Amino acid sequence: MKDITKTWFKNWSNEYDNTLGKVKRHHKLLETVVKESKVKRGDKVLDIGCGTGLLTLKFLQKAACSVTAIDNSKDMLMLFKDKIKKLHLKDKITYKFEDAASIRFAKNSFDIVASTVTLHHLKNKYPTIKKIREILKPGGRFILGDIDMDTTGKLTDTKRLLRILGYLKDELVLALSEGGVETFKRMYDNGKKHILNDGEYCISFKQWKALCKKAGFSKITVKPLPDFKWFKVLVAVK
Ligand SMILES: C[S@@+](CC[C@H](N)C(=O)[O-])C[C@H]1O[C@@H](n2cnc3c(N)ncnc32)[C@H](O)[C@@H]1O
Repeated sequence: MKDITKTWFKNWSNEYDNTLGKVKRHHKLLETVVKESKVKRGDKVLDIGCGTGLLTLKFLQKAACSVTAIDNSKDMLMLFKDKIKKLHLKDKITYKFEDAASIRFAKNSFDIVASTVTLHHLKNKYPTIKKIREILKPGGRFILGDIDMDTTGKLTDTKRLLRILGYLKDELVLALSEGGVETFKRMYDNGKKHILNDGEYCISFKQWKALCKKAGFSKITVKPLPDFKWFKVLVAVK
């Protein structure tokens, strides 16, 4: 079966930094994830779904850490590869073509595993959460920055539709005012994908928290993104 999400990101890759990359709320999310990670000098960080590298670069701006960045889109990784070269960051960043559904790192490898607006793309989320705990060192931190929106349920359920439209109303206003028409068009397309559960689905942070608890994480906290209630940051400790 054709992977709808992969095709979608392939088509989006070239415009990514000029669309979502222009939205201040997105940068705020990435900065909050880095802050909550408490990253420090020498830490080994894994960025799952790195895309064009926006989160990885913020980690490196914050501390002298090293980042392994994975993504299952070759097009996204190629764009990131060019940035790494231009910024002379080859010693600090290792990028890999790898799917979040089948992470293959050794146990106890990372101090921090972080992921922004990626893991909701997985249909089956629990095995990846379990794997993330396994590859973290004892005391390591998992930081998730994502949309707090439950899109599960029947497509014909009008309550479900209203829930999603509530998020989209706020998100599309930001997209248009901060990124212009191109960003609006892209995020509108994104919105339709969420409404129709096109190849994937989002879940609420209550559901993410429950998955982390089931996987054995402790000290799980969830914080809203200031000024934008639909995005949250979860921290879970191994
Ligand atoms: C919305 S972008 C987020 C990129 C970056 N984390 C950011 O916040 O700007 C989502 C990224 O996740 C990647 N992705 C989606 N599903 C994935 C999967 N199953 N495994 C690895 N990467 C995936 C996409 O290719 C895309 O680059």
